[in-house]
Amino acid sequence: MKPVRKAIFPVAGLGTRLLPATKTMPKEMLTIVDRPLIQYAVDEAREAGVEQLIFVTGRGKASLVDYFDMAYELERTLDDKGKDKHSLDPSRSGYGELVSVRQQQPLGLGHAIWCARHVTGDEPFAVLLPDDLMVGRPGALKQMVDAYEKLGGNIVCAQEVPADKTSSYGIVDPGMSDGHVTEVKGMVEKPDPADAPSRLGIVGRYILQPEVMEKLAAHETGAGGEIQLTDAMAKLIGTQPFHAIKVDAVRHDCGDKTGFVLANLALGMEDPAIAETIRAYLNR
Ligand code: G1P
Repeated sequence: MKPVRKAIFPVAGLGTRLLPATKTMPKEMLTIVDRPLIQYAVDEAREAGVEQLIFVTGRGKASLVDYFDMAYELERTLDDKGKDKHSLDPSRSGYGELVSVRQQQPLGLGHAIWCARHVTGDEPFAVLLPDDLMVGRPGALKQMVDAYEKLGGNIVCAQEVPADKTSSYGIVDPGMSDGHVTEVKGMVEKPDPADAPSRLGIVGRYILQPEVMEKLAAHETGAGGEIQLTDAMAKLIGTQPFHAIKVDAVRHDCGDKTGFVLANLALGMEDPAIAETIRAYLNR
């Protein structure tokens, strides 16, 4: 079984749910407490053993790639002033190799993933949707990689979603379950509640085998007229192992105003430097 060394970050989206903030700023650069959303996803991938980060970007997203370069001017200025450089790279994880590819047309998540096919080649890869901020220890992807080492094949991260929200998610048709692991018999993208095979919704973490790229190459459109990753994954079922796992992590949907504010509160409360002030304010 090949290890998961590569991760795709689809970051070409327009962030329309967060306008006007995203008018000139990528949504992935919006800050949760003291660092941009993208950094949480990148740190999570690095913790899980990912060596190569693949950003699928689009117009206006250059700052995302710049962010992961060394900032010489800042390093020098902080050095000259004798200031602590910890704030430049709070994770100190080192970022590994970064490759960026372009998604030149907004044809859907499946299309974005397909744009990275030449970089992933014949290796399995992870997909992290940075909007889905997953707070867990160890991180969500690390928990999935640990499961992958036993199960192989393809793994999606899943959570129970409210019955009236199935049309916002890819929904799993579940087979046998063993603890947190459920066999996947089928998958539907954004079904109406009446048609949903379960309430087990896919959240933004995946470990996939390279064959999914061949399925995506057909460029078939699905829900919303977009090329859907869920549809391509569904075609692998029966040919390769496919599981959904419930990780021990809290998900914040930061592509949405409420989720974004709640993520700031939740993570602010975990930061010893500011937690007390926030708690006192909320109590008041
Ligand atoms: C995407 C996927 C969907 C998944 C969701 C998780 O949808 O297409 O299957 O459940 O991410 O956040 P989007 O939120 O981009 O519409």
